[in-house]
Amino acid sequence: MFQKTVIWAHRGASGKAPENTLAAFGLAELDGADGIELDVRMTADGVPVVMHDATLDRTTDDSGLLALRSLADLAGVDAGRWFGPQFAKESVPTLEQVLCQIQDRMLLNIEIKEFAAGVAVKRLLKRHARCRVLISSFDHAVLQALHLDAPELFLGYLSEDADWDRLIETAVANRAVSFHPRQDRVVAEQVELCHARGLKIFPWVVDEKKRAMTLLEMGVDGLFTNEPGSLRRWLAGV
Ligand code: G3P
Ligand code: CA
Repeated sequence: MFQKTVIWAHRGASGKAPENTLAAFGLAELDGADGIELDVRMTADGVPVVMHDATLDRTTDDSGLLALRSLADLAGVDAGRWFGPQFAKESVPTLEQVLCQIQDRMLLNIEIKEFAAGVAVKRLLKRHARCRVLISSFDHAVLQALHLDAPELFLGYLSEDADWDRLIETAVANRAVSFHPRQDRVVAEQVELCHARGLKIFPWVVDEKKRAMTLLEMGVDGLFTNEPGSLRRWLAGV
């Protein structure tokens, strides 16, 4: 699935457009990203939607817990104006809207933010077989359940920690394809360890040229960035 250094647009091109919206995903594609990273949570009526936080407060003009809102309740919610008036009327997208928009033109990294979303995502992907999807989570129980239930899915292990060895072995045991550490935790030996164990390594989140180049020299297989256009230019040497 990964044939070169992968530019992952973190929550879309979220340096230029409101995170986790169709506008941010469209801009990521225009800026030359290879893939989009997004966060998935569940509405009260069981629909997987794309939002990072558990509440609407930070990224919409509304407030309160997403889990208490039905999809119909989200219809009038503006997920773009907080970023800039030109993005007013951006909605909270459903995951299905994003799958329909992206098709197979880009990779998708779906980060599962809550356990129930794992099952819903798995069901939804059955209807979108053309999409090229990598599923990741900090909740490794979700990944283990998905591996047992749907071994055909591509899985990536997210980690905040500096001590990776045990987690890498868990990822290998669950046939993961990739490891996603915090970028400031990465050292060359750990890149080598991932590769020796057959895992790709995709650190997050890098918006600074010097750090991006250092990580690429260490041999990482791609980076998550809020600025995919900049990373594309740095990789091209301009
Ligand atoms: O998947 C990488 C990164 O998105 C994990 O952290 O908080 O941005 O979801 P967060
Ligand atoms: Ca994320």
